[in-house]
Amino acid sequence: MNAPAIIGRKPRVLVTRRWPAAVEAALAERFEAVFNTADTPLAPQDFRQALADFDAILPTVTDGLGAESLTVARPRTRLLANYGVGFSHIDTASARALGIAVTNTPDVLSDCTADIAMTLMLMVARRAAEGERELRAGQWTGWRPTHLVGAKVSGKVLGIVGFGRIGQAVAQRAHHGFGMTVLVQNRSPVPAEVLARYGAEQVDSLDALLPRCDFVSLHCPGGPGNRHLIDGRRLDLMKPDAFLINTARGEVINEHALAQALMFNLIGGAGLDVYDGEPRVAPVLLECDNLVMLPHLGSATRETREAMGFRVLENLSDFFDGREPRDRVA
Ligand code: 8YV
Repeated sequence: MNAPAIIGRKPRVLVTRRWPAAVEAALAERFEAVFNTADTPLAPQDFRQALADFDAILPTVTDGLGAESLTVARPRTRLLANYGVGFSHIDTASARALGIAVTNTPDVLSDCTADIAMTLMLMVARRAAEGERELRAGQWTGWRPTHLVGAKVSGKVLGIVGFGRIGQAVAQRAHHGFGMTVLVQNRSPVPAEVLARYGAEQVDSLDALLPRCDFVSLHCPGGPGNRHLIDGRRLDLMKPDAFLINTARGEVINEHALAQALMFNLIGGAGLDVYDGEPRVAPVLLECDNLVMLPHLGSATRETREAMGFRVLENLSDFFDGREPRDRVA
């Protein structure tokens, strides 16, 4: 059901973090926008207050909108227009119970997130971070045939877990750019013509995929359903020289099991852009040399961050003009 349009006044919207200037300007023009100029994450009590004061809240991944934040008697808020594609930080069941719609920003960040997955794959396999650390520490003694020898990426087997928009963008790069063989694990069957675009094969289960891959890249949603999808048992199924890449959500991997696997060389290495409970990073991960870690940079390009903002704007305008927003997820 479409929301009744707001007529005669500008909807009041809360922007929880600083956004690209061009988007903030457009928001300020079209809405009665309040910006959190402190640019710090809001606490559950701030959200409960905001739910009473605003027609829409525009959260990001840093905003915990769990049941605790979404317990108010009669909210004024009718839309949570999330800035980002992943929305496991929003308890959609609680939002639904309050009659609050939720939208996200798919498509516009697929390329850049896929680029970061490739970055991590190349960095960890080619030992780029180790090399940079060595050079900056003044410890590079010069070229030698045995120096920081890594693993070749081109032509290897890549397993993609979750074959949505971002998974397919990774397949595009890996297959057509790096000549990789792509294996896919996905909850639902992927149409044959989609697999054919990347010369890909869909396998029946994650357990069947893992032993066949030189690289495994995660592109499934986060949230309770996929928590610790990659645990100690599944890490054991990987080849001892294979690499694990995560640009999805931190909770998908049991990080302590990963640290063990890295320390005991049960796998070749890993590349992470996301962490369970970020920005806190489990100290044990910092001790793993064969691990490349980025601070959640998947969508962090000027072009993409602006496109994400304008996509939120589109969702907001549609919703408050009484049209169904294109990216409604709850
Ligand atoms: C975003 C992401 O920057 O969109 C996502 O799901 O993981 C990131 O690239 C972040 O979520 C912003 O809320």
